[in-house]
Amino acid sequence: MSWIVRESGFDPERIAHHGNKFMIGNGVLGYRGTLEEFGKSELTATIVAGLYDKVGDKWREPVNAPNGLATTVDWEGKPLSVLKAGPRVEADGNGGGPELVAHEQSLDLRRALHQRRSVFLMADGTEVTITSERFCSAVRSELIVCRIAVESSRDGALTIVTGIDGDVWDINGPHLERMESESDATGEVVLLTAWTQELGVPVTVAETADIVGEGRGELLREETSIRRRIHINSRAGEPVELVKYVAIFTGQDGAPEEDVRASAVQSVSEARQLGYDRLLLEHAERWERKWEASDMKVEGDDEAQLALRYSMYQLHIIAPDRSERVSIPARGLSGQVYKGAVFWDTEMFMLPFFLHTEPEVARNLMMYRVHTLDGAKRKAAEYGYDGAFYAWESQETGDDACTLFNVNDVFTGRPMRTYFRDKQVHISADVAYGIWQYYAFTGDVSLLLDGGAEVAWECAKFFYSYGYFNPRKQRYEILDVTGPDEYHERVNNNAFTNRLVKECLRIALDVMGILRTHNPRRYEALAAGSSVSPEQIRDMHDRLYVPQPDVETGLIEQFDRYYALEDVSLPDLKARMLHPHEYLGGGNGPATTTRILKQADVVLMLHLFKGDYDRSVKQMNWAYYEPRTEHGSSLSACIYAMVAADTGSPDWGYPYFMRTATIDLTGESKQYVGDLYIGGTHPAANGGAWMAAILGFAGLRYDGLKAALRPALPSAWQAMEFPVRLRGGSYRIRISREEVSIAAHSDNPTAMRFIVGDRELAVAPGQDVCVPYEVD
Ligand code: BGC
Repeated sequence: MSWIVRESGFDPERIAHHGNKFMIGNGVLGYRGTLEEFGKSELTATIVAGLYDKVGDKWREPVNAPNGLATTVDWEGKPLSVLKAGPRVEADGNGGGPELVAHEQSLDLRRALHQRRSVFLMADGTEVTITSERFCSAVRSELIVCRIAVESSRDGALTIVTGIDGDVWDINGPHLERMESESDATGEVVLLTAWTQELGVPVTVAETADIVGEGRGELLREETSIRRRIHINSRAGEPVELVKYVAIFTGQDGAPEEDVRASAVQSVSEARQLGYDRLLLEHAERWERKWEASDMKVEGDDEAQLALRYSMYQLHIIAPDRSERVSIPARGLSGQVYKGAVFWDTEMFMLPFFLHTEPEVARNLMMYRVHTLDGAKRKAAEYGYDGAFYAWESQETGDDACTLFNVNDVFTGRPMRTYFRDKQVHISADVAYGIWQYYAFTGDVSLLLDGGAEVAWECAKFFYSYGYFNPRKQRYEILDVTGPDEYHERVNNNAFTNRLVKECLRIALDVMGILRTHNPRRYEALAAGSSVSPEQIRDMHDRLYVPQPDVETGLIEQFDRYYALEDVSLPDLKARMLHPHEYLGGGNGPATTTRILKQADVVLMLHLFKGDYDRSVKQMNWAYYEPRTEHGSSLSACIYAMVAADTGSPDWGYPYFMRTATIDLTGESKQYVGDLYIGGTHPAANGGAWMAAILGFAGLRYDGLKAALRPALPSAWQAMEFPVRLRGGSYRIRISREEVSIAAHSDNPTAMRFIVGDRELAVAPGQDVCVPYEVD
């Protein structure tokens, strides 16, 4: 039951939200949850991971490929479309309709299958039902398969128009030019090829279809589409079935256009040979393995159960499980929002899920940072710094897609200067942190030897050049930065940034040590070519200022002089807004002069370095900062959930967890900043939901040597159970209100040390242990 996400009824206002909610994908393609009859106005999109384009001086963003699923169905000349349905009887008493009498859209999370059922009632009482099912093959990365069935309650004439629609939704497009349509030699396959504007990359969509018992129909070629019109005599109670096999190939890896077309034709022809059922079977089997590695069970809370599964589903459909050249954008593959760019969201909010369940994906995500190191070096040089300053908004080359004016003022329409690109320097520390996490979790040095060590070293060099040595205080400081709270730009000594920079310096020294052992020549080359010595990095590490808890209050000041800002309540601040989409930060935003923060900042630091702070410090800072946090970013609530659990108050954390876990189910999130549309899916929140459950409520903490469990279950939860992978070993952990049990897979390479409460035990391969435990 908790595997199905379903919505009944059709509401045109929810088209955009459902497009996100019902997405399917396979890490290479993302297909929005729109209906077959939809077009660009309904935001239909097929996003190809890692393919970007820029038109003129507009924002560079992902390319939306032609829609290979485009299909319309008419019954005796009347369109069966949710968009065109109306009352069956018109005001003048004449026959109207078709009337939409039932409509349902759903996702089967277990098999990553989108389903739809719409029942239309014709003026004469005939009922026509359209059902469809579609999936983005988890096995064949280029393939989308869709089966549509139409069944009528009496005999009649059906017209199906199906093919490829190149007139696509774009935010800063059009990205595709010179559309060429053709059908292959057999006439069975239709193709649409177009080229991106900036780099001339060919994009081909091929489609072939099985239509039970009918011919190929008549070919309709228009400037931006190629379709077939098929007339069918439908017989009462006998469904007419159409199966579409759609392949999308591009030249993004340099393949010439002939090969791109040929691959597309071959793919759909093979798929058609195999047929829908076999393709679905292999796809479902692959998904079964994904769930085996990740599915979590929550007893006593069905809503949380479904929301958690859904969050994991969203992460799985965008996970680059076969490429280390792409990472996960902040809006996944749900469209062109946020320029399809990769932010710190990936390392800090999504990586933990993959580290614990599919470390191979985690490695790909971090290798993406290795491949984009040159872009990060270019950015550092551009600003006059040494080392690697990673892009705030990274695309395929690692050059920064973030503009200096990233938000427009809602009142004047004028661009506002923002300092995300220039001052959110913590991004380089986040990347180094991710590299280290991968190593700590897997023990696999290959990432470090394949460039990860260099990444960490270059990030440390960047901070050495960015940092300021305060001679009076005899300490290093990090000045003029923007921390996670984007409403306060260009501040000094942001506690989070300074602490993470310190960690980055430590990581750089450690990975250089590892490199020296495993590849002395590479180490020598890196050290010799470096303007900074390990001793200097060590010195900066040891003398870097990190704001500490006040001895009396326990509070950590978010940045220098934060307390000097006006202490206004969040409702009062909101009451000052002059426009619902007004940007709260920037030069003269309402929050800028106040202590209101956009998202978890100090509290995020307390989560990342939880071992460094005692419970009362965490409680004090949580209680102080939470009422002052707008949670204006989807990256915020999960952090408060985790720190609440960490301090033994899971029920305080629970609403923040649920808010995070349901964000893409409810669609309740900020849609505009200034005049900028920011809707789409929220992978950081999806990862945050997983983190809040496993790292928060289960209290799992792995430091590369031992795994500790400090459960703090919300009251409604009777038990939770989940798999994790640590250092190549697989474990199943079950936490009830009385005991913790750990089952180690018999193939595990070694025993693992677990700490549960105050007990420490070694869990050998194949062993199953159970430890009584009182949940807080
Ligand atoms: C948040 C950033 C985040 C970005 C992309 C912004 O609203 O403040 O922390 O990286 O969205 O999700």
